Amino acid sequence: MDKIIIHGGKKLKGEVVISGSKNSALPILFATLLTDEPTTITNVPSLVDIDTTIAFLNFIGKKIVKKGNTVKTYSSYKYKHIAPYDLVRKMRASILIMGPLLSRLKKVDVSLPGGCSIGARPIDIHLDAFKKLGAEISVEGGYVKTFAKDGLKGAKIDFRFQSVGATENILLAAVLAKGKTTIINAACEPEIEDLANVLNKMGAKVAGMGTKKIVIEGVDVLHGFKHEVIPDRIEAATYIIAAAITKGEVTLKKVVPRHLKVVNDKLKKSGLCIKEMEDTISVKWVKNLKPQNVKTEVYPGFPTDVQAQWMVLMCLLSGKSQIEELVFENRFLPVAELQRFGADITINGKVVNIKGVEKFSGAPVMVSDLRAGAALVLAGLAAEGKTVVSRIYHLDRGYDMLEEKLKKLGAGIRRIHN
Ligand code: UD1
Repeated sequence: MDKIIIHGGKKLKGEVVISGSKNSALPILFATLLTDEPTTITNVPSLVDIDTTIAFLNFIGKKIVKKGNTVKTYSSYKYKHIAPYDLVRKMRASILIMGPLLSRLKKVDVSLPGGCSIGARPIDIHLDAFKKLGAEISVEGGYVKTFAKDGLKGAKIDFRFQSVGATENILLAAVLAKGKTTIINAACEPEIEDLANVLNKMGAKVAGMGTKKIVIEGVDVLHGFKHEVIPDRIEAATYIIAAAITKGEVTLKKVVPRHLKVVNDKLKKSGLCIKEMEDTISVKWVKNLKPQNVKTEVYPGFPTDVQAQWMVLMCLLSGKSQIEELVFENRFLPVAELQRFGADITINGKVVNIKGVEKFSGAPVMVSDLRAGAALVLAGLAAEGKTVVSRIYHLDRGYDMLEEKLKKLGAGIRRIHN
């Protein structure tokens, strides 16, 4: 299995172009199932999760091709209504197959999903909402079987939590349902706005995206579209923290600064010099940073997907800080690995308490999930000596050209194949 070797202690300097958002591209790829007309999606990152989704859609019956960062879909074959374990287990986002197939075929059988090992991650919010739209649901042999005999009908749906995936799944279903659907307590993430914009380009009638109340008027048919995926705000935050942790000076190109407001505000408060322009962010370390407490929340709060990277930075600042994880259970998996670098962290339920240490020393470490992987790479960049990161297949799910981008910024990083 591949490993990443890092010789830490180098200040990052230069420019990095941020890739398209994984979490935006995935639901948009699933949206192509809603039409038989050609579609073109640009700025699609090159990631294992994208390849998995393309293989999945191809299996379901969509003619789909990725060349560079562009994905084109052509005609559809007759769609299959079964999403088997082998395809679904690789990625939790596979459950987004439910919305489009339920609205187009009136039935879909999906193996219960896999994904990162960060807690229970149930899908009850998705299923309760599909029931409200008129679907009957049963679980048999590890499969969720969903059937809407008379087709889906618009309804008022009140989510118990602002789930990103459930908001997307219900959007993907309700655009072709009969009548009006209102989602109360919808997630407001930029990736949801991006999906809703695509659906509207296809002829859907979606309003209120980016707010907690989304209203969808069902239509009979959806058309082809062309769309450029928004920049990946989580990748961008990771490079901003990489600049801060190595006391460097990095300019990020092709970003949307307002998507990163909460992270940048915290870093500015900490003492980092950050300048935001239209689609560029410049970061410069000028003085020792001060620790800041954070708690993860749904957008526009502090993103759970940046929590692990933030933790590494806090570990290396003089003083104490606290992180509260309010979105996922069990999302402190990198703690044990960070302790191998010399970090002083204690876990108390949903909270970690951090006492800053002067330095990290490189260590052999193992990745447990995507964002934990990013944290370990950041730790390696800041550490003295050599770090060997194994099980990096998690990183390949979410970071486009990670070593190439970091190497260009001056990091001592390489991948070995064995
Ligand atoms: C998406 C992102 C992921 C991010 C997360 C939160 C994608 C592909 N992934 O994941 O990177 O970390 O949003 O910003 O976009 N929950 C339930 N029942 C449900 C659905 C969710 O209890 O039916 C819980 C989950 O267990 C979790 C929390 O709600 O604790 C957040 O989940 P959700 O917002 O659905 O995240 P994902 O869509 O899985």
